[in-house]
Amino acid sequence: MATLRRPINATPPFDPSALVGRRIEELEEYAPETMEEMAQRLGLPVGQLIKLDANENPYGPTRRTMALLNGFSEFHRYPDAVSRRLREAIGEYLDVDPDRVVVGNGSDELIDLIMRLFRPSPLGGGIAQVIDCPPSFSMYAFYGISHDLRVRRVPRRDGFRLDLRAIEAMCARAPQPRLLFLASPNNPDGQLLTDAEFERLIELPVVMVLDEAYVEFANASRVSLTATYDNLIVLRTFSKWAGLAGLRVGYGVFPEALMPALWKLKSPYNVNVLAQAAALSTLEDLEEAQATVARIVAEREKLAAKLREFSFLRVIDSQANFLLCRVRGVSINTVRRAVEKRGIILRYYGGDMQDYVRITVGTAMQNESLLVALRSV
Ligand SMILES: Cc1ncc(COP(=O)(O)O)c(C=O)c1O
Repeated sequence: MATLRRPINATPPFDPSALVGRRIEELEEYAPETMEEMAQRLGLPVGQLIKLDANENPYGPTRRTMALLNGFSEFHRYPDAVSRRLREAIGEYLDVDPDRVVVGNGSDELIDLIMRLFRPSPLGGGIAQVIDCPPSFSMYAFYGISHDLRVRRVPRRDGFRLDLRAIEAMCARAPQPRLLFLASPNNPDGQLLTDAEFERLIELPVVMVLDEAYVEFANASRVSLTATYDNLIVLRTFSKWAGLAGLRVGYGVFPEALMPALWKLKSPYNVNVLAQAAALSTLEDLEEAQATVARIVAEREKLAAKLREFSFLRVIDSQANFLLCRVRGVSINTVRRAVEKRGIILRYYGGDMQDYVRITVGTAMQNESLLVALRSV
């Protein structure tokens, strides 16, 4: 076995982990089970799994995009570092100025970039706070903590509604928060931010980051308002509606004033060639991609109606590609065992959410299998 080497002048014991920033203690490793691990745990072949836990698109990319991916050969070239063609196409798709669009390695990378943009400089700049309204997408807190921003949690109230007064009170106190992260539709409940909520919150002296990862399933985007409000950032992704989760392409539409700083801070070559080509191809093949979205929306409504027939489920109205249900009268583990026996993977939670299960809308056949499994409960 090789002996461990340490710096010549270090007094032993030299422990590199003692040099790691303390904020890491607040974070948890994120490594969801792989399909193979799930299959092994359930004693089923991988091909028998029905994965309805990660809000993925069960139909995948459009046929044209698949053909392009299959024939792709430009792997030896660096990608366009600033995704020019894709940004032009996004500009056209959303009717926004492409000069205000930044593309990222999934919208996760944009969350990371925004946190880096607003974190205080070590040379001064005070305390940077970011408001997170849980339950919501867990990456807001993750990236906030990982960049030394102070994450202030304003828990949602009954029905997953925002606590507007608490957010306003937080923005009225020093040190004033710099960022407010909101998802519309929100993950995990699938509900939209209302106009009344938006209009009240956008007046606050804080940058609102509106995460519209699921908005194609809702048709209720506020992206055009990024030209009007200089405190509004809208995040979007190709992961859900376009079926490109594995390729990692997301983007943000920003107020003009932030652009010079963003271009300086963005990682070079952050979006790989295949991801840029696939996203562009999807936008050139919108009709098929949108037909898939319409299918998922129709399936969502059918599935929600069927799920409502189970007395042990309370289904929340959703505008996304998933449905959050509260389990009552039976234990959630009974439900979990019944569906997992048939290879169906759903999203479960801990803490205050332990009675809830989130179901990604699958194909008609997958949804039917789920209903069959639930009937055995
Ligand atoms: C609200 C929300 N935002 C962003 C993402 C991540 O999107 P991407 O795959 O583009 O990083 C997710 C994924 O689950 C999400 O639920």
